[in-house]
Amino acid sequence: MKARMTKLMRGSLVAGLVSAMTLGVAQLGAQGMPPEARANIHTLFNNHEKITRKVEKTEKGYVATTESDDPKVVAAMRDHVKQMSARLESGMMVRRWDPAFAEYVAHYKDIKHKFTKTKKGVQMTVTGKTPEAVKVAQNHAAVVSEFIKDGWKAHDRTHPVALTQPAASSAASSSNCCAKAAAGACCAQRGGK
Ligand code: HEM
Repeated sequence: MKARMTKLMRGSLVAGLVSAMTLGVAQLGAQGMPPEARANIHTLFNNHEKITRKVEKTEKGYVATTESDDPKVVAAMRDHVKQMSARLESGMMVRRWDPAFAEYVAHYKDIKHKFTKTKKGVQMTVTGKTPEAVKVAQNHAAVVSEFIKDGWKAHDRTHPVALTQPAASSAASSSNCCAKAAAGACCAQRGGK
C-alpha cells in the first residue's frame, strides 16, 4: 500500500513538473511585449505631440534625430530603442500583423543601427547591407515618423511594405500585439483615449 502511494505521488509530481515546463516554454515562444517595453511604447504614443523628428535619407539608409523637451519622454525613447533592438537581435517578433514590421524583421540582419544619445533624445544612423535592406530601413523610418505624427491612430493601422514581393512570413496574422498580450486590454489602458 505504502509503495503504491509513493509511486502515485511521484507520478503526479513528475506530471506537474512537465506541464509547468511546457507552459513555461510555450509562454517564452509566444512572448508578447514585456510590460516595461510596452509601458515605454505607451508613453511615446501618449506623448507623441511632444516628440520632434528629423529624418535625412542617405544613399545607404537614413539618419534620424528624434527628441523631446520632456525628460520622461526622452528616457522612454532611449529605453525603447535599446529594448527593441535587443528584442529583434534575439530573434523575437514585433507587430507581426503589420506588413511593414514583418518585412523589417525579415530583413533585420541586413540592417545596421548606430545609436547615439543627443541632449534631448536619440540619433540613429541606419544603413542597409543590400539595396532591399536600404528600402526596408527607410520604410521603417517613415513608419516611426507616422507614429509620432498621428499617435495611437497610426498604432492601429497596418503599414505598406517597401519591397514588391513582401518577405513577410505567411504566419502574419490580423490580431495585433496587444490582442495577443491580453485580448487588447493593454491598448485599452491608453490614458482614456
Ligand atoms: C510613438 C511611438 C514610437 C516612437 C516615437 C518610436 C521611436 C523609435 C525610434 C526613435 C527608433 C530608432 C530608429 C529611428 O529613429 O528610426 C525606433 C526604433 C524601433 N522601434 Fe519604435 N517607436 C514607436 C513605436 C514603436 C512600436 C509600436 C513598435 C513595435 C511594437 C516599435 C518598434 C521599434 C523597433 C523594432 C525599432 C528598431 C530598433 C533598433 O534595432 O534600433 N516602435 N523607434
